[in-house]
Amino acid sequence: MKDSLPPAEGLVGCRRQNERMGNDQFMTAAVLRRHGGPDALEVRDDWPVPQAGPGQVLVRVSAAAMNNTDIWTREGAYGLPGLPEAKAGWRGPVDFPRVQGGDIAGTVSAVAADVAEAWTGRRVLVDPAFYADEREDADPVGLLGSEADGGFATYVAVEAARVHDMSTSPLSDEELASLPVAYGTAMGMLERARITGDETVLVTGASGGVGLALVQLAAARGARVVAMTSGSKAEALREAGAAATVSREATEFRRQLDAAAPDGLDAVADVAGGPWIERLMPALRDGARWVIAGAVAGPVVPLDLRRLYLHNLSLIGSSMHTRAHFAQLAELARTGALRPSIAARYHLNDIHAAQDEFRRGAHVGKIVITP
Ligand SMILES: NC(=O)c1ccc[n+]([C@@H]2O[C@H](COP(=O)([O-])OP(=O)(O)OC[C@H]3O[C@@H](n4cnc5c(N)ncnc54)[C@H](OP(=O)(O)O)[C@@H]3O)[C@@H](O)[C@H]2O)c1
Repeated sequence: MKDSLPPAEGLVGCRRQNERMGNDQFMTAAVLRRHGGPDALEVRDDWPVPQAGPGQVLVRVSAAAMNNTDIWTREGAYGLPGLPEAKAGWRGPVDFPRVQGGDIAGTVSAVAADVAEAWTGRRVLVDPAFYADEREDADPVGLLGSEADGGFATYVAVEAARVHDMSTSPLSDEELASLPVAYGTAMGMLERARITGDETVLVTGASGGVGLALVQLAAARGARVVAMTSGSKAEALREAGAAATVSREATEFRRQLDAAAPDGLDAVADVAGGPWIERLMPALRDGARWVIAGAVAGPVVPLDLRRLYLHNLSLIGSSMHTRAHFAQLAELARTGALRPSIAARYHLNDIHAAQDEFRRGAHVGKIVITP
């Protein structure tokens, strides 16, 4: 994207990809063959290096973080409208074989003939979203790693319009790779729900990728964050900026919540859904917003609509981010105003072990894959 890249001196002639890459034709990639268990995902070292097509750049991946969506897409766990049990990706059918991984940081190693040569050699963060149209606030309608090949590979070819220059960022490539999906989604939730300072916000799934990003970003805006978590993760969440924590396993959960938010909640930033909607809704103040981006605790819920309309509550669905949200995030990354925490690192060859650890859910922060 335009960002801080100096103006290009016009478009350059054809950049010969193989010159830049030492004639590599094959690379290592984690390839999803079909929806299914871990065996549906194969690590291959004979996968063709993609070519940068018109308007694209080739990025040599230095880090790619994991997200819940990688596992749900592998399993086909998203269902279809009217068919909740159908195997599908988040936007419907997935084209196999597919290289997953929407969180990509790396270096541009080649550019197409119609892309400014100044990008070559630059450290970049990749916006993984496909958008409905050209507007800055257009909705996302696709994701790298789901609707096109992503970053669980040595190289990925992406549109030049989606790379953000990170030459001056103090963040490591692993920290940068932790941002797009989790922090992008969190940014989208906070913006769509207009969460500002001076508000009390409950974050569910607070130790997870999106949840931890919500805690950090909401606290950075001055909001008072109450983090809902489990096990022994509370201290890590307070360090990340939560003013208070409540345990979702506590028998006296409601008493904990009332102590943490005696005046009620102005907003809930939710990735859990399931029974939490019924349990938490009575703690909302009149006029409060409930923004939801995930359903780890269950996708289909009973809802007493009277509580919604009698208290002027807003229920807001939130999918990923817009270009404008991502640009805000990229600026925070460039200035170092945001520092994601890395829970674990795995080599691409060990992606199955990385998914196992992700699934166990004992980690706080992002699990990063390096090719
Ligand atoms: N809409 C979007 O654009 C978008 C984008 C990214 C992700 N998502 C969705 O958001 C959700 C979270 O994604 P993620 O990558 O952050 O996942 P994650 O890293 O696995 O985090 C989920 C967290 O939820 C908590 N949790 C697990 N089971 C729970 C339960 N039964 N009740 C309440 N909390 C529970 C756990 O945290 P504690 O132990 O701390 O409670 C866990 O760490 C997923 O549903 C994912 O598909 C949506």
